[in-house]
Amino acid sequence: MPRAPDEQPAVNSATMRSFVHWIRAAAPYVHAFRGHTFVIAFGGEVVADEGFLGVIHDLNLLHSLGIKLVVAHGCRPQVDAILAQQSIPSRFANGVRVTDPETMDCVLEAAGQVRSRIEALLSLGLANSPMAGARNRVSSGNYLTAKPMGIVEGVDMQLSGEVRRIDTEAIQQRLDDGDIVLISPLGYSPTGEIFNLTVEEVATQCAVRMDATKLIFLIEADGVRNSRRQLLSDLSTADAEAMLVRPEKLAPDVRICLPAAIRACNNGVKRAHLISRRHDGALLLELFTRDGIGTMVSATALAHLRSATIDDVGGILSIIEPLEEQGVLVRRSRERLESEIERFIVAEYDNHIIGCAALYAFPSERAGELAALAVHPDFRREGYGEALMQEIEQRARKLRLSSLFVLTTKTSHWFLERGFRNAEIADLPQQKQALYNYQRKSLVYLKTL
Ligand code: ARG
Repeated sequence: MPRAPDEQPAVNSATMRSFVHWIRAAAPYVHAFRGHTFVIAFGGEVVADEGFLGVIHDLNLLHSLGIKLVVAHGCRPQVDAILAQQSIPSRFANGVRVTDPETMDCVLEAAGQVRSRIEALLSLGLANSPMAGARNRVSSGNYLTAKPMGIVEGVDMQLSGEVRRIDTEAIQQRLDDGDIVLISPLGYSPTGEIFNLTVEEVATQCAVRMDATKLIFLIEADGVRNSRRQLLSDLSTADAEAMLVRPEKLAPDVRICLPAAIRACNNGVKRAHLISRRHDGALLLELFTRDGIGTMVSATALAHLRSATIDDVGGILSIIEPLEEQGVLVRRSRERLESEIERFIVAEYDNHIIGCAALYAFPSERAGELAALAVHPDFRREGYGEALMQEIEQRARKLRLSSLFVLTTKTSHWFLERGFRNAEIADLPQQKQALYNYQRKSLVYLKTL
């Protein structure tokens, strides 16, 4: 059916261009995540929120991309509501509900409600909706064995429990069958008792024991903030640990989920993410962009320096080309870069090249040139330039060079602040002098190693 002239799609509109851009940029993540297990955890308030359908749509999308999903839910507000209805007082100790038998009945009712609601929404399949054709299968069962929490700081926690065992084999089978596994915060004991568990503990234990790649918490806050109230994009487990020394500085649910994230990462989960439950599409933004939108915790540092390889040529070009255009760096062709690639080092952040530098050695004059030092604009002022420079200095020392020079037209101060001093063209190695571009009028700076 031909389109009427006034409904020609605006294929060049900004929205369409950015759609194409983003969906392409997501490809590496789609590849990386397929077949991996993610544990996604949220409290009952997420389910009660009108934005929950958005979360369901995103879970549906992740599932369709071949990610194995274990979804762990809580039900605290639902329990509170039922308790209030029946005029039973809520009791907490150390932030955990004390579950007496009467309360347990309310917990069972609440957990049932929440579970059914999630199952129902995951079963949506309306035409013209993101769930069209989905046919998600959700499974749940007696996967968790629990034990009583016992007496904590003098309080008998009664039917509040802890995870004792997880039937990982059964969960794995369900996942391999293509099911989404939904886990409620309830565990059973070999004597037939039911225990009330916390969603954080259930999610963490599932992530660790299922060898999950990711553990993701949807929380009230938008991530972890430092004492200056800045949102931290990523956090090593060591730094996260240090933040827990002053828990009163953290948002309430960060206080609960951050220790869980650390525990998961210290026990083999690659990454734990704390992201806002209030931001529509938070899961997608976190998972399919380099920087995400919340806080990511991991046991190993994300950034590191290494020697460049031929595979890095594209990445390096994307960093240096804008600077060549601005005249900050001398132009290098791709061919030249390829043939000189072993002189380059790169700074890498989560598999993206974010900076580079090169060392050209003039061994007979025991001099070296620091060249093509560049850092991606998103990562400036974070010390990568300095780290690259220091690495080049080290490599120059290893080659027994006694001085390092740099030619620059625009960034003299940066080098002067880092131990370089003014020098003359005559101080350069012969070969370099012969090539000196008098039009460019670069200034020469030199550092004795
Ligand atoms: N999308 C990538 C991932 O899921 C990176 C996310 C980075 N997130 C962050 N908060 N720094 O692994």
